[in-house]
Parts: sequence; structure tokens; C-alpha cells
Amino acid sequence: MRVVSGIQPTGNLHLGNYLGAIRNWVAMQEQGECLFFLADLHAISQPHVPTELAANTREMTAALVACGIDPSRSILFNQAQVPQHAELQWLLNGTARMGWLNRMTQWKDKAGKNREGASIALFTYPVLQAADVLLYQATHVPVGEDQKQHLELARDIAQKFNNDFASEDAPVFTLPDPIIPPEAARIMSLRDGSAKMSKSDPSDMSRINLTDDADAIMNKVKKAKTDPEPLPSEKTGLEGRPEAANLVGIYAAMAGTSVDAVLGEFGGEGFGKFKPALGELLVTKLAPINDRFIHLRQDKDALDAILRSGAERARKLAVPTLDKTYAALGLVRG
Ligand code: TRP
Repeated sequence: MRVVSGIQPTGNLHLGNYLGAIRNWVAMQEQGECLFFLADLHAISQPHVPTELAANTREMTAALVACGIDPSRSILFNQAQVPQHAELQWLLNGTARMGWLNRMTQWKDKAGKNREGASIALFTYPVLQAADVLLYQATHVPVGEDQKQHLELARDIAQKFNNDFASEDAPVFTLPDPIIPPEAARIMSLRDGSAKMSKSDPSDMSRINLTDDADAIMNKVKKAKTDPEPLPSEKTGLEGRPEAANLVGIYAAMAGTSVDAVLGEFGGEGFGKFKPALGELLVTKLAPINDRFIHLRQDKDALDAILRSGAERARKLAVPTLDKTYAALGLVRG
């Protein structure tokens, strides 16, 4: 089992990042060989500030390590130090089809009405993502629900490339399977159960940051939007109650249990009882992460050393697949 996944280097890390991706990565370390990277090359597909990108790359690295990614066990790096990602993307651009990319919902959402003004990188973003995983012969790719379509595209690209350029008994690429966490795959805003928890929400009350202390966490949970009904005792009772569903989902994810189990315990109770329990659970689980994060994010040298050594290991794994890809395409390299 080889696990590969990436995350865009954003600042203001929050509970949504932790529960949506990072925590699953941490768990994957028990199950196979893992490569995790900061998708800094993806980050330039949209307008960005260079100094912020650099700061966010290090910040996200600190967060991953604080949350439990062990850089001596897993390979932790940023794409920019492994040029094979960009190289493989170009080679796959010959296989990816315009029609496939045109159907990507993330492209449609992010480009909006202004397709003419969107960057080429935004359009070919999923091809780079395919390169990210195919480069390492990933067998499993943990992602959020919103990335499932990109993973399917990666499989389509791998399949077409293998069909067009490889023999059946010696395929160049492995078709990766997505791993989508069942519970709390999508953590929503504490102020609006229909919007994803996001670093760019103008209200800081909408999210729980990894830098928040115990008081801030308790306060945000207390002020979280809810409805007047008590909690149901079964999952179906959460339908049409996005805020309640979100809080219960967060509880289940943090406690490592199911939504049904949480409702088994709190069904019939009001939020006056549930919210303090949720706040305390969050504080207990996040405190050690918060400690490590605050400490490590100031240590630029340590972070750079982690990324440098991860990149070195990643490059070694990347080269054989890249060589095979060049050769399969008939590209002469001396
Ligand atoms: N596009 C992913 C996201 O925004 C990040 C990403 C880039 C990724 N490359 C990847 C995820 C490869 C999984 C595998 O969440």
C-alpha cells in the first residue's frame, strides 16, 4: 500500500483542515508507506502573494508535524523541491482531454463566469494533481469528498496512458483508489451550516483555528449557530438541520466514534448540555497539537530541514516512473 496525498499551503489552519485531511493522514501512517506534500505548485493557479505562499508552506508543514505526521516515517515535502511533478504533468498533458477538464466542477466553480481571465494553471490543475499521485505509483489517496472527481480524472489519465503507450502486462501507471473518510468529511462553518469552514470567512467565529486557546474554543462553540430543537436520537433526525448535523459530526470525528453513537448518548438533550461537552472535547484533543504548533512554526530552520530531507527521498522514488514515462512516449534522452 502506498499512500500519497497533498494539501494546499494555506495559512490560518483550522479544525476543517485537521478533520478533513490531516487527521486521516496521521492515521494512514499506520497502514502503509506514506508520502505527504504541500501543493505549492497548485497554489500558483490563483492570484497569490509570493511572501505569503512561502510563509504558508512552512506554516502548513508545522501544522502537519504538530498534528502527528512523523517526518522520519512519512515522506513530507513540498512539490517545488521535486521538479518531477511538473515534468510529469507536461508529459500527461498529451493524454488529458480538454473535455475531461471542462467537466471538472472545481474548475467551473473557481473560474466562474470569467473563464477567459482564469489562468491556464487553474484549468490544468487536475493534471498536475494526477501527476502528483501517478509519479509515485500511489495505490491509495486520502482526500475529501470535493476531490473525488479529480481522483477519477487521475485514474482516467492513467488508464488512457497505459492503453495508448504501454503493453497490458507492463503498465506505466498504477490506478489509485481514493479514500474518503465517512464521518465529518466536510466540516462546516460554525455560523452557517451550509458553508464550509474556511480560512477566508471574514468571521473568525465561524472556525476553530489550530492557534486558538481553550477560552477561544469554548467561546466559539458556545456561540455556534444552532436551532431550538433538542438533538434527535437517530441520524435521520439531523436532516434539514445543517448546524446541528455539523456539531454532532465534529463531536463524532473528534471522539473517534460514529454520529449514531453520539446521538445515542446525547439524543433528547438540548444544546445547553451538548455544547459544553463538545467544547471540552475539542479543548482536550487540540491542546497538545496547539502546543507543538505554536512552538514549531517559529523554527524556520527545522521546518526547512524537514522539507529538504523529504524532497530528497521523494525525488528518489519519483525518478523511475518518470524515466518509464519518457521512454513510453518515445522521447529520446541520450
Ligand atoms: N487539490 C487538493 C486539494 O485542494 C490538493 C492536492 C494536490 C492533492 N495534489 C494532490 C490531493 C494529490 C491528493 C492528491 O485538496
